[in-house]
Amino acid sequence: MRVLLVTGKGGVGKTTVSAATAVVAADRGYRTLVMSTDPAHSLGDAFQLDFGDHPTAINDRLSAQQINSQQRIEESWGEVRDALTEFFDWSGLKGIEAEELTVFPGMDEIFSLATVRDHVRSGEYDLIVVDCAPTAETLRLLSLPEVLSWYMEKMFPIGRTVAKVVRPMISKVTSMPMADDKVFEAVARFYDRLDGIRDILADPEITSARLVMNPEKMVIAEARRTYTYLGLFGYMVDSAVVNRVLPDTVTDSYFARWREIQKTHLAAVEEAFADVEIQHLRLFDEEMVGIDRLRQVGEELFGDRDPTDRLAEGNPFRVEEAGEEVVIVMAVPLAERGDVDVMRHGTELIVTVGPYRRSIILPDSLGRRHVRRAQLVEGELRITFGLDA
Ligand SMILES: Nc1ncnc2c1ncn2[C@@H]1O[C@H](COP(=O)(O)OP(=O)(O)O)[C@@H](O)[C@H]1O
Ligand SMILES: [Mg+2]
Repeated sequence: MRVLLVTGKGGVGKTTVSAATAVVAADRGYRTLVMSTDPAHSLGDAFQLDFGDHPTAINDRLSAQQINSQQRIEESWGEVRDALTEFFDWSGLKGIEAEELTVFPGMDEIFSLATVRDHVRSGEYDLIVVDCAPTAETLRLLSLPEVLSWYMEKMFPIGRTVAKVVRPMISKVTSMPMADDKVFEAVARFYDRLDGIRDILADPEITSARLVMNPEKMVIAEARRTYTYLGLFGYMVDSAVVNRVLPDTVTDSYFARWREIQKTHLAAVEEAFADVEIQHLRLFDEEMVGIDRLRQVGEELFGDRDPTDRLAEGNPFRVEEAGEEVVIVMAVPLAERGDVDVMRHGTELIVTVGPYRRSIILPDSLGRRHVRRAQLVEGELRITFGLDA
């Protein structure tokens, strides 16, 4: 079972690469689902077909799905919202509109991820290709499972075992309408929706992220940053796909200068993404839509390579033991020393890289230890814990 997250800046070719990858994987025998979490769904445009919110078969082994996150929100969050609205009405907190109860940042995106998780668990597919929203949203989306568990634990102390103890106490001291369990059950069900998402996406054996870019200065700069932040959140990047490379057959003098510019940028990509596979895709002489052209794109992209393979090895998050010291190792490729900050806050470790922050709840065994040092070594952040400072 493999999940491929295809991401990159808007317009670089994410949908084309996702669709092409799915077509060749299906051709080669894998039961494949390609799904889009980008609200600007264009999978349908790529295949020149109509897809809905549920998997639609394209051929024997290939299906496509464009997730309607609004609908998912209604299904899962709606019941929590209704219960909370009732609670706020009862408590006299008037004027809180139901729409305002979207308490979590990026609530909608979490449901796309829950759908990926459900498909993985169903065992119906060998490969799921996710055509992600443009970079910033994707990063937000990928940090969500963790952020949400954090919120849930702080706001609703309902860790399944705790709920049994706390709930009767609350209903005893108040006469809240939720005494009938509604809110708790709704929240618990909502919480269940999140369960296991991160385990799938942060497991490099299952999930790989593929970064699509064009040989252009700003696009590469953004891809580099994405590479860093994906590492921070524990997602394994296994390939950099450079799309729209001018082929050698273009000899027109008009493009001579562009060829030179691209050459410099390709060299920059080689350097920045040295640890992962680099795949090139030429600029085609027409729009590559429809299954036959997508197949051609996929064949050129992969050749004899298996699109489901892990194209680079590594583990962006691991814990190592060295004598009495324990080291948390996090991949933060291309990060500079000044971008990185590590803070210990009780049982939490807060790692900030540029504008992104990851909060890691330390296991009990580390909770009692002190952070001795944090070092940036060859693209990895090594945080060493000792028994005393
Ligand atoms: N290598 C390529 N050669 C020619 N056209 C391309 C190539 N890659 C993408 N396109 C076209 O560029 C447009 C944008 O690509 P798309 O895959 O939708 O980008 P994204 O999903 O990143 O926004 C589409 O019309 C697509 O057919
Ligand atoms: Mg797209």
